[in-house]
Amino acid sequence: MNFTNLLELEDLARQKLDPAAFDYIAGGADDEQTLQENRAAFGRWRLRPRYLVDVSSVDLSTTILGQPINFPVLVAPSAYHKLAHPDGELATARACAATGTIMIASTASTYPIGEIAAQGAPTWFQLYTYKERAITEMLLAKAVAAGATALCLTIDVPHIGNRERDTRNRFTLPSGIVMANLVDADLAKMPRNPDGSGLAAYSMLWDPALTWEVIPWLKSRCHLPIVVKGIMTGEDAKLAVEHGAAAIVVSNHGGRQLDSVAATLDVLPEIVDAVGGRIEVLLDGGVRRGTDVLKALALGARAVLLGRSVLWGLAIGGAEGATAVLTTLRDELLTDMMLVGRTKIADVDRSLVTKAPV
Ligand SMILES: Cc1cc2nc3c(=O)[nH]c(=O)nc-3n(C[C@H](O)[C@H](O)[C@H](O)COP(=O)(O)O)c2cc1C
Repeated sequence: MNFTNLLELEDLARQKLDPAAFDYIAGGADDEQTLQENRAAFGRWRLRPRYLVDVSSVDLSTTILGQPINFPVLVAPSAYHKLAHPDGELATARACAATGTIMIASTASTYPIGEIAAQGAPTWFQLYTYKERAITEMLLAKAVAAGATALCLTIDVPHIGNRERDTRNRFTLPSGIVMANLVDADLAKMPRNPDGSGLAAYSMLWDPALTWEVIPWLKSRCHLPIVVKGIMTGEDAKLAVEHGAAAIVVSNHGGRQLDSVAATLDVLPEIVDAVGGRIEVLLDGGVRRGTDVLKALALGARAVLLGRSVLWGLAIGGAEGATAVLTTLRDELLTDMMLVGRTKIADVDRSLVTKAPV
């Protein structure tokens, strides 16, 4: 693949994609401040390497909710992978299987969860909860039947964010791209955009009345562990623990929901403190470098999720491109582990980072 690092991917993918699809993936909400901040936050920390440590053998493997993975990077749930490549989520899942990590499949996937999980990677199902609970129950049944090993409940979309690139582009899904998990649902009453397309309409069916009680409700209907994605405060982290979450993802949806919220890395220490080791804490948003992964882990994340970079990889080269994205980040992390004098993931602790001078 024709790239050296993940920061080059966006420009390469831009050359491959329809401009409106590119903007849908690249964009954030409002002024895209949070989108920028997610990356900038990694620059506010410095690494503290230790030398004369035997780093002749480095092990990047870890576990998430007991599931072994080869390196501490998961694929974040994102909608509509067919926008990036016709093989869509099937290609992404093959990349996860090839590299030995977890695929988190979105409710809004363009292949059904069963086919995605059949590609051989450990698969979580990301859930958007519908006003009509019967639709949510149908999704749960499909996730369980597919063999998903966790439910990832996204909480930061009580309403779709104000993504002005999409408004300007009048972005709608191209024909032939659908939410494959919902094609057989009774969506006859679904409201439509004025032009008849269904993009905004799908999200209008998500439930804005959702409260923390959704977690016990989900647990009463489904045995899968629940990972709550979209935590940005210590207060919500505590509520997630109290309501029975198995893990949380510190996330601001890649800056696509509320603009002007903090970078995820900036709120990670507060959240890790609030959780106090009771459940696993993951983080996403702006991770592009091996050193970014190290900083997130040093500040208490168990692993990170990779969003846009995987979609850019898909756009550039399908399953092979997405695999190359994951292996590039993995190889950077391996180099960085040797250079900071750590031989296993459990050795990455708070002493590895210090705040950059202001
Ligand atoms: C195109 C796109 C679609 C997304 N769709 C979803 C989704 O369906 N469900 C969800 O929980 N998060 C979704 N996200 C958010 C990602 O899971 C993740 O939080 C974010 O992309 C991480 O930031 P990064 O792109 O900087 O790595 C989406 C992100 C992008 C870029």
